[in-house]
Amino acid sequence: MNLRVRSASRLEGEISLPGDKSITHRALMLGALGAGPSRIQGYLDGEDCRATMGCLHALGVNVEQHGPGRLTVQGVGLRGWSEPADVLDCVRSGTTMRLLAGLLVGQSFYSVLSGDAQLRRRPMGRVIAPLRQMGAQIWARDGHRLPPLSISGTTLCGIEYALPVASAQVKSCLLLAGLYAEGRTTVAEPGPSRDHTERMLRARGVHVVTDGLTHRLDGPVSELQALDTIVPGDLSSGAYFLVGALLAPRSRVLLRNVGANPTRTGLLDVLRQMGAHLPLHDERDEGGEPVADLWVEPQALCGAEVGGDLVPRMIDEFPILALAATQAQGVTRVRDAAELRVKETDRIATTVEALRTLGARIEATPDGFVVEGPTPLQGAVVDSHGDHRLAMTLAIAGLLARGETIVLGAESIPDSYPDFQAHLRALAQGAVG
Ligand code: S3P
Repeated sequence: MNLRVRSASRLEGEISLPGDKSITHRALMLGALGAGPSRIQGYLDGEDCRATMGCLHALGVNVEQHGPGRLTVQGVGLRGWSEPADVLDCVRSGTTMRLLAGLLVGQSFYSVLSGDAQLRRRPMGRVIAPLRQMGAQIWARDGHRLPPLSISGTTLCGIEYALPVASAQVKSCLLLAGLYAEGRTTVAEPGPSRDHTERMLRARGVHVVTDGLTHRLDGPVSELQALDTIVPGDLSSGAYFLVGALLAPRSRVLLRNVGANPTRTGLLDVLRQMGAHLPLHDERDEGGEPVADLWVEPQALCGAEVGGDLVPRMIDEFPILALAATQAQGVTRVRDAAELRVKETDRIATTVEALRTLGARIEATPDGFVVEGPTPLQGAVVDSHGDHRLAMTLAIAGLLARGETIVLGAESIPDSYPDFQAHLRALAQGAVG
């Protein structure tokens, strides 16, 4: 599917952000292991989370929807899942595959995790190697590196593991396996990745101890409490309209229900460093997560240096940051972000290629990119290569570019933001064809 976008003089209006993708996946999985029903309010009904729901259904768990944004997961207990009759299809969702792998290795049955061609190219050795150290029986293609993953559930033992790169998916996978393991599971990360798993396990009665960047729990855990969850809005989705409103003259946008967990707000910190004034309003706590509202108006930006601990705190926001940097005065340099090469696409290569097609001055480096701004953008046909985050970035770029932009591969947008086009139409009237 292609998305046609014309240049827009402004973005105006307010939107309530869709539910957080990471929290929805975890609320579904932990709900399915809970001792009774858990209600989830404000969940993300995107394709990635639907993949998780489909897998849970195949594992014998009932998920009932009660109208928009509300569902109940009928938890069957930590050992209540049943052997799936077929391959579990994670579609394009890396979070589904990596977190479920951690949960399935400790079950008493056989299972296989697979997905679309895009997901079958993504590295799984990062979870398989430490799970095998825990005693897991898990196999995969290419020397246990690529999906499908074949798992024969068995008894596990806790390990101490230092992650080579900051990754919430790997950390979560190992902590979830630790629920089933004998003894202590300790995971140390080199940088601060999102902490939703730790928060949500604690809220369900598991004693997860965090000491700086090291997390540990003692297993096996006998029960996960059922718990109702309110899912905050996803800042990773809000990032597109946030940057759009900062850059399109005369804009005025209110983003409501923005998840403001400090392990997720790296983009806000970088934009502030670039000169943006972005005060959070009505800061509150919803279901154990900080939430706020954000007013955005156009502001002049200057270049910035981005690296180190900021990178895991904004790992999904680099395509949209690259777009912001094309309109900022001076040079923006991103380093320490080689992880971008193993996301839905090689996001360094695909972002650089697409923004150059629109006229940006941007160069790839092995672990990031360098952008020289400001450059006027010119509408063109650009390929998102089926990467939802790049497709949404290019749609916003199309609002800023002269003439018309056609985004190829836009059918992936509902993976994380099913209402994106509706919100784009509402905020940038007349710009979407
Ligand atoms: C996610 C963690 C991040 C992020 C992904 C969702 C999660 O991946 O890119 O979109 O829900 O844990 P890594 O932790 O592998 O960097």
